Amino acid sequence: MESKKITIRKPEGKLGVLLVGLGAVATTFVAGVEAAKKGVRKPIGSLTQMGHIRLGKRTDNKTPLVREFIPLAGLNDLVYGAWDLFPDNGYEAACKAGVIPRDLLDQIKTDLSGLEPMKAAYDKNYVRRLEGKHIKNVPNKMDLAEALIKDIEDFRTKNNCNRLVMIWCGSTEAYCTVQNEHKALKALEEGLKANSANIPPSMIYAYAAMKCGCGYANGAPNLTVDTPALLELAQEKNVPVSGKDFKTGQTLLKTIIAPGLRARYLGIAGWYSTNILGNRDGEVLDDPANFKTKEESKLSVLDTILQPHIYPELYGNLYHKVRINYYPPRGDNKEGWDNIDIVGWLGMPMQLKIDFLCRDSILAAPLVLDLVLFMDLAHRAGLRGIQEWLSFYYKSPQTKEGLYPEHNLFIQEMKLKNTLRYLMGEEQITHLGLDYYQS
Ligand SMILES: NC(=O)c1ccc[n+]([C@@H]2O[C@H](COP(=O)([O-])OP(=O)(O)OC[C@H]3O[C@@H](n4cnc5c(N)ncnc54)[C@H](O)[C@@H]3O)[C@@H](O)[C@H]2O)c1
Repeated sequence: MESKKITIRKPEGKLGVLLVGLGAVATTFVAGVEAAKKGVRKPIGSLTQMGHIRLGKRTDNKTPLVREFIPLAGLNDLVYGAWDLFPDNGYEAACKAGVIPRDLLDQIKTDLSGLEPMKAAYDKNYVRRLEGKHIKNVPNKMDLAEALIKDIEDFRTKNNCNRLVMIWCGSTEAYCTVQNEHKALKALEEGLKANSANIPPSMIYAYAAMKCGCGYANGAPNLTVDTPALLELAQEKNVPVSGKDFKTGQTLLKTIIAPGLRARYLGIAGWYSTNILGNRDGEVLDDPANFKTKEESKLSVLDTILQPHIYPELYGNLYHKVRINYYPPRGDNKEGWDNIDIVGWLGMPMQLKIDFLCRDSILAAPLVLDLVLFMDLAHRAGLRGIQEWLSFYYKSPQTKEGLYPEHNLFIQEMKLKNTLRYLMGEEQITHLGLDYYQS
């Protein structure tokens, strides 16, 4: 597509970041931003803060920082709001999550302890492992939506926000598929009034956000905005949506390794992935109904990278297995093992073993920052509905119906950067490069 400069509203004033869930990921995100503002830590892992973008030809030597190239909100303009099932403030929640070393946590204690969560919209059927204590008690789900709308508007006024973005950093909900209530906005609204069991809390938050003219990013594999009803609302309210499920840890590595094996036409007979994880997320995912939501998201990545329908001899019989085991001693320090059975020339078998000793929330937090800033950018640029260019951040990228998602991290990165170039009226980079040799 030809690049032409799009009108992007300036990022003036405060950007309100509405965090649904104030657990390990959300508190690690806030802590990292505040530590970066104080200069005590670098925002490592964040493309918006540390990434550069090449413009023009390789010989032009033009590679500005992304945040200097495109108008993004600054870290000093962010203000946070949150909801959680537990009343712990940001500092207490971060201590419980146990991700951030205590000495660092104490340097940002006042920033975190000022973040008091609002009472959550809760339905036990969707997260059975947690006992919500800090929750709204109202007669039905439409009342919950209205209470959330009031929270959002009060937050906007109190913090004098110019713009808002909502991002789901809450637990993974029990598995659900598109039901009649999700097929049209009118049906969703009737379902909310009728207190339908088919409407999970995440849909109520997303509904409330969009009603307030605020975009919604989905960090969990929950169905939420991947439904006709909420996409209809996004169009009506001109707001962006994106999802699903932050791409970190094992799946991040999978979408780095698999494109390489495919590029060399190496066959894969099996890919066995298992994780041990001991945080609250691991506890919730120990429930088979919640694990099913995560499993679908984690399993989906290989198909569109390997394309077994085009390469049946190489990937037609691939056995792909993913497990998550709740193991409390590890806390947030997840260990992800992969065993990949590869087939090469002469049909000879080989094996690849990966043992990723990662920190889940340390990998997720910079994605929250980038998504908040890019969702705000999309909104100011008038982009509404699904933001496929943000696939880079998700395990299970949301796409328009009928389009398969891109899982290859390198294609996703190119798509993201070309979108930034497109928005700024810069030439897109195809990596063809013949012109260097033709003149
Ligand atoms: N950390 C990662 O690498 C990673 C990667 C992909 C996705 N995720 C997803 O991000 C989410 C957050 O992960 P985490 O490690 O911070 O989990 P966490 O359990 O520490 O935090 C989630 C918080 O959400 C709260 N919550 C649950 N339902 C809620 C509701 N209806 N309203 C308000 N709050 C609610 C819980 O009380 C909890 O404090 C999870 O869904 C997880 O699967 C995390």
